[in-house]
Order: sequence, then C-alpha cells, then structure tokens
Amino acid sequence: MKNLMVTGGAGFIGSNFIRYAFEKTEFRGKIINYDKLTYAGNLSNLRDIGEKYRSRYFFVKGDVCDFKKVSETFKKFDIDTVVHFAAESHVDRSILGPEEFIKTNIEGTFILLKASLKESFKKNFRFHHISTDEVYGSLGKSGYFYEYTPYAPRSPYSASKASSDHLARAYYHTYGLPVTISNCSNNYGPYQFPEKLIPLIILNALEGKSLPIYGDGKNVRDWLYVEDHCSAIWKILKEGKIGETYNIGGECEQKNIDIVKKICMRLEERMPSKKNLKLKGKRYIDLIKFIKDRPGHDRRYAINCDKIKKELKWKPAYNFESGLEYTIDWYIKNEEWIKNIKTGKYKKWISENYSKR
Ligand code: NAD
Ligand code: TYD
Repeated sequence: MKNLMVTGGAGFIGSNFIRYAFEKTEFRGKIINYDKLTYAGNLSNLRDIGEKYRSRYFFVKGDVCDFKKVSETFKKFDIDTVVHFAAESHVDRSILGPEEFIKTNIEGTFILLKASLKESFKKNFRFHHISTDEVYGSLGKSGYFYEYTPYAPRSPYSASKASSDHLARAYYHTYGLPVTISNCSNNYGPYQFPEKLIPLIILNALEGKSLPIYGDGKNVRDWLYVEDHCSAIWKILKEGKIGETYNIGGECEQKNIDIVKKICMRLEERMPSKKNLKLKGKRYIDLIKFIKDRPGHDRRYAINCDKIKKELKWKPAYNFESGLEYTIDWYIKNEEWIKNIKTGKYKKWISENYSKR
C-alpha cells in the first residue's frame, strides 16, 4: 500500500480510519480523502491530522458518482488501494428520502468499481468495500449473522448497501477486481454525527431536550467502538484474502433503552443534572420519551465474527463500558466540534430534524 484513497473520509468512520492509519499503524504512504462533503462530511474531523501529516494527507472534494473526477484522482495520486466508506448512512433519512441512497450507495459504488478496474493492472491493487450487518435483515430472539447468511435487507438504506455489496462481489467474480468486503455492526465513538442514537442522546441530554426512543426501546443492536472497526479494516487490508467477506462485530448486544439509561447514568457522574441549568430540576433519565416506532424497524442484529478473529487474529480492544465512557467524555470535551456542526450547513438539517422531537 502506497497511496490510499479513502472515500467518505470526512464522515464518522472514514475520519476515524484516516486518523487510525496515520497514528496507529506502520503505514508511511499517502492518504487521499475523497469526499463530497454532504451534511455528514466534516473536514474539521481531521484538522489536526491535516496539519501534522501535511505531506501525506490530501483532500479532494468529489462525488463518487463522478466517473471523470474519480478516474482523474486515481491517476493524479497513483492510487493503489481504495477503501470505500462514502455512503448515505442513516436509516431514518433513507425512509424519508431514498433517492440519494440509491444514487450514492449503488451508483457511486458501481462508478468506483468501474474506475478501479482500469487501475487494477497495478501490482497489489486493492478495493475494500465497507458495508453493514443490516444487509442480513432482522433477527428474532436467537441466532446470529454469518458471512454466509442470505441477504434480506428491509430498509432503503440496507437495500442500497446490499446492492453495493453484490456489485463489489460481481466485480471480483466477473472481472477479477481484487475486492474484499466487510460487514460491520453499529459503530459508536468520537466524530459521529448526532443523528445516530448514541451522540443524539448525549447531546440532547446535555441540552435538556427529550431523549426519543422508538417503540418499546427493546430493539437490539451489536455495538462496536469505532477504533476497533478501523483496526479490523486494517487487518483485512494487510492480511485479508482477496474475494472474501469478513463480518466485524463487538459481540456486544444492547437494547436501546439500556444504552440510553447508561448514558444518563454516566452524565449524572460527569455533569450532574442538578448543576445543569438546562435540565430545570429534572434528572437526565426524566427526559426519556418513547415515541412512534420507526417504520419496518429491525428488531435485533447480532453478528458472528469468528472468521476474522480466527483467520486474521483480530479482536476488539474496547468493551462497551470503556468505549461508551470515552465517547461521552469526548462529546463533553469537544464543544468546539459540536458548535461547528450545529452551525453553517448543518444548522438547517439539525433544526428541521430536531424540531420534530
Ligand atoms: P457518515 O454518514 O458519517 O459519513 C459518510 C461520508 O460519506 C460523509 O463524509 C459524506 O460527505 C460522504 N459522502 C456521502 N455521499 C458521498 C458521495 N456521493 N461522494 C463522496 N462522498 C460522499 O457515515 P459513517 O457512519 O461514517 O459510515 C461510513 C460507511 O460505513 C458507510 O458505507 C456505512 O454504510 C458503513 N457502516 C456504518 C456503520 C455505522 O454504525 N455508522 C456500521 C457499519 C457500516
Ligand atoms: P441508529 O443509530 O439510527 O442506527 P441503525 O438504525 O443503523 O441501527 O439507531 C440505533 C437504534 O436506536 C435503532 O434501533 C433505532 C434506535 N433509535 C431510537 O430509538 N431513537 C433515535 O432517536 C434514533 C436515532 C435511533
């Protein structure tokens, strides 16, 4: 790996991945962050990295659906490895407006694969496609998702990601493009846009706003600290077998209501509600509000990640308690980042979406 193109590198996981590659690995090449900067892309996620690795970090503002721009970027930076994060990533938004999901997630992945094929003569060229466990559908009380579990996506988001996985696999089987794929469970950690459950609850609680829980709050997700996702991707890039799919998960099933309660407890320790004037005498936990369920809300996700653990000797470094504490503390300490995302182009989105709650 010499010149790595990270699509969606200004988003949550992409920016954590770029940080991880520079700070926690032996990598000495260049990273090109290719991102369209939608509402979810935030260059300030990597401001310090950009300054520290000035000669090795580059940003290109571009759309993955733009074949010409993608091809030019491949040529200009002599890209030999693509790690494809760029996507529309939020289920609720995909329910409200699926069009962008179809465009970016399906068409964008196709364009990238097509452009990559022209580069694949390069020695050790690699295309790593980032996907989700949501492609496997919804589980009942028991059972797990395995790499061979048939796909059964149920939201426009998961259907678009499933399509992109199929395309990536088809490019490997049909054209021999050196593809690897990973399907990961729910991530949490620093720099996550506060539309997703954990940062939304932290920020709403600190502001004394209600903590919206869909349905009965007993839906289960398998949570993984974002840096552990990054270390798994790194292992796959280095040691993964071409053509293979790897499930990545935290073996950490949590009901939504339990997560929200844990966040409230930790906030009471760190920023006692008694001293937070925005709470007006309430405790954080009093802010919980059960609201109408998400349409087609998947009940339970649980991933079996024995393959990557056994074959690539990967294991997560964080447990849920330590990861969640670190995340909560990060959001408390990073007022500047929060202020930044609540102004400018993010402001409209936040006011439209928060005002409904
Ligand atoms: P995110 O929404 O935080 O970031 C997405 C990034 O992609 C943003 O920087 C955005 O500007 C960029 N982007 C969007 N459309 C683009 C386009 N057309 N061209 C170029 N850039 C574009 O998402 P995330 O949570 O960091 O997720 C990253 C990837 O990981 C996605 O593929 C997602 O499906 C997958 N994933 C996410 C999770 C999770 O829990 N967040 C779990 C498993 C897999
Ligand atoms: P989310 O973070 O949107 O991730 P995903 O839908 O990809 O799993 O949601 C995680 C869980 O939390 C999911 O079961 C939906 C639920 N949820 C709420 O109860 N309230 C909320 O405000 C949000 C955003 C999610």
